[in-house]
Amino acid sequence: MTKQRVLSGMRPTGKLHLGHLVGALQNWVTLQSKYDSFHCVVDWHALTTHYADTSEIVENAFDNVADWIGAGLDPERSTFFIQSLVPEHAELYLLFQMVTPIPWLERVPTYKEQMDQLTDRDLSTIGFLGYPLLQAADIVVYDAHWVPVGEDQVPHIELTREVVRRFNNFYAANLVEPQALLTPTSRLPGLDNRKMSKSYNNTIDLSDDAKTVQHKVRQMYTDPKRIRADIPGTVEGNPVFMYHDAFNPNTAEVEELKARYRAGKVGDVEVKTKLAAALNTLLDPIRERRQQALARPGYIREVLIEGSAKARSVAKVTMERVREAVKLKY
Ligand code: TRP
Repeated sequence: MTKQRVLSGMRPTGKLHLGHLVGALQNWVTLQSKYDSFHCVVDWHALTTHYADTSEIVENAFDNVADWIGAGLDPERSTFFIQSLVPEHAELYLLFQMVTPIPWLERVPTYKEQMDQLTDRDLSTIGFLGYPLLQAADIVVYDAHWVPVGEDQVPHIELTREVVRRFNNFYAANLVEPQALLTPTSRLPGLDNRKMSKSYNNTIDLSDDAKTVQHKVRQMYTDPKRIRADIPGTVEGNPVFMYHDAFNPNTAEVEELKARYRAGKVGDVEVKTKLAAALNTLLDPIRERRQQALARPGYIREVLIEGSAKARSVAKVTMERVREAVKLKY
C-alpha cells in the first residue's frame, strides 16, 4: 500500500527554538512513519520578507536541517529538500498566478497582519502578496494530501484548495486538494512572557548549550509580586510553570513545586534550577544528534542535494501532467 504524502515547509530565517520543537518538529517526527514525508526548506519564502539581506538564508537552512535531525527526523525515511533547487515550484506558481484573482490574496489574514507588523521594510511587492500562492505550489506540485500546520496557516491551506478547484475547473489537471493536518498550537510564551519570537530575543534555541539554558531560565519572567521566597505566588499563567508543565515529565515534582510556590515555601532559584534541568534532559539527545550530523563534513548538504533531486523527480512528473492539461505541449 502506498502511503499518502505529507508536505511541510519551514522558512530559513533564523535559529529554531522550543516553539518549533513543540509546534512542528515533534509532530513531523510522529508523522514520518505513517506518511511519505517531504520536508522543504522554503528559501524563496524567506526572500518574500528578507529580500534586502539574503546573506544568512543558506546558513540558516543548514542549521535548521541540523535541528530537524536533532529532533528525530530521519533523512533516510523522509525527504529533506530545498525549494529553490526544485524550479518546478516556480513554474506551477506562475501558472497559478494566471488564474488567481488578486483579491483572494489581499484578503488572506496573514497578509494584512504582517504588513502592519513588519513596518521596517517595504512589503508592497508582488512576491509578498504571492506568498500563499507560492505555498500552494509547494504543496500541489507533490500531489500532497496533508499539510501539518498550526492554526495560523489554515487560511493558506484554504486558499490552496480554492486555487486547486479553480485550476482544475479550467484545465483537467486533476490536482490534489490538500488538507491541513492541524498541529495543536503551543500557547507557550517567550521567556519574558511576551509572544515567543526570535525578534524579541526571548527563546530557548535547540542549539543552546546547557549553560545557556540555565542562564536563560534564571532570567525568566515569573510572578513579579514574589519579591521574597515566603510570599505566596501565582502558578496560573506563570511562564516558569507553563514551561514546567510542557517540558518536565516528572509531574510529581511539578505538583509539589506548585504547592510550595502557592504557599510561599519555595525560592525561585529552586523552581528554575529544576526547570533548567528538565529542559537540558529534553535537549541533550537533540544536541547530540545535531552535533553528530554537523560533525560529518558535507553531510547535511549531501542530504539536501539528494533530497532535492528526489523531490524534483516527483515534481517533474506533476508538471508534465499540468503542461498537458494547460495544452502547452510542444
Ligand atoms: N507559510 C509556512 C509558515 O510560515 C511555511 C511554508 C511555506 C509551508 N510553504 C509551505 C508550510 C508548504 C507547509 C507547506 O509556516
